[in-house]
Amino acid sequence: MKTKIGIVIIALAFIVTAGMAYAADVPPPWAYGFAGPPPATPAPPATPAPAAAPDTSMKSLPGSSSQFTRAQISNRYGPADWYPGDHPSMPDVVARGKQPEVWACSLCHYPNGKGRQENAGVTGLPNSYFFQTMKDFQAGNRKSSDPRKPNTTIMTNIAKGMTDDEIRAAAQYFGSMKWTPWIKVIETTTVPKTRPAGGMFLVENQEKEPLGARILETPENAEHTEVLRDPRSGFFAYVPVGSVKKGEALVKTGAGKTVQCGACHGPDLRGMGPIPGLAGRSPSYVVRQMFDMKQGNRKGEWTELMKPVVANLSDEDMLNIAAYTASQTP
Ligand code: HEC
Ligand code: HEC
Repeated sequence: MKTKIGIVIIALAFIVTAGMAYAADVPPPWAYGFAGPPPATPAPPATPAPAAAPDTSMKSLPGSSSQFTRAQISNRYGPADWYPGDHPSMPDVVARGKQPEVWACSLCHYPNGKGRQENAGVTGLPNSYFFQTMKDFQAGNRKSSDPRKPNTTIMTNIAKGMTDDEIRAAAQYFGSMKWTPWIKVIETTTVPKTRPAGGMFLVENQEKEPLGARILETPENAEHTEVLRDPRSGFFAYVPVGSVKKGEALVKTGAGKTVQCGACHGPDLRGMGPIPGLAGRSPSYVVRQMFDMKQGNRKGEWTELMKPVVANLSDEDMLNIAAYTASQTP
């Protein structure tokens, strides 16, 4: 009997150290773009690698008549616009930003507002929600639960540098476009091996590894997303087998733990009135937001309405919910 218990304890310890379960206040690393939880003592700063000569070659993409260097692609005050025909004409603040603190929105969120797993999809958000949430950023009411995540702070500084008119122009621009499918959800047990890179997970080679209890969101083409910032190249989201169905129960019935989402986010989760849509949006982003709201790190004017929703959700519930919402057609 004693040895049996011993084995169970060892097995449990193994599961915990394998990174499957964390204390309730530790942000699930996969949703924040990290391989593991923050270390108890911060790692000493790494010695920077010697700088390689910058790649000054002209890059191109199929279907685009423009060519850009890497420096132009990631220019904070006027990044590449590969496909100007894909979107309406951008307001200045979206296309070029405002020096020094307001970086162009199109750099991170792309000109079409689809965004990437480490930031957010901003297209198709209701105008009033967009405005309010920018005010929340300005007031310091949208912080990340993982202090290692640098771009939430950058986003805050961007919001702080903007006038109300600039916020309205950005809200109107992104709100004039519809959110369309961008992330393909796949239930699986085995996934390509990835490395964390600036808030994303990138596939490096042919190696595979177990998915475990996480969602792995990764560009469908690492080179297109990482190097070229191709706004037509979307994402895969690998989710645990059975998670979509479990998430559906939570979303549609509350399952005794939460409130039906459709009452506020719309019956198809495509948004309703001032409330943003959830269908087909980044599952990492959705989990980050729910976790940040539960921890009180996101505490904007309207966040109060979400408090009872997230209060009793475990990390696993949030994962299942996000697997389901991401799988829904926007
Ligand atoms: C450096 C990259 C970066 C730039 C440039 C940037 N953002 Fe963001 N933005 C972020 C990140 C990161 C988040 C999500 C933060 C998180 O998950 O904690 C975000 C979130 C948002 C959200 C919240 C979306 C939601 O569903 O609630 C809005 C709105 C937004 N950004 C608007 C803008 C606007 C407008 C601009 C241009 C003036 C801009 N952003 C420029 C990184 C950026
Ligand atoms: C009583 C109304 C209500 C219900 C029910 C509700 N929500 Fe929300 N939700 C909101 C409001 C309002 C916001 C905006 C919060 C803010 O501005 O901070 C929001 C925001 C969110 C966000 C952040 C969106 C973004 O773009 O940043 C997520 C994720 C979310 N809700 C998920 C859910 C899920 C999942 C459910 C069901 C389990 C749910 N909500 C149920 C009202 C609701």
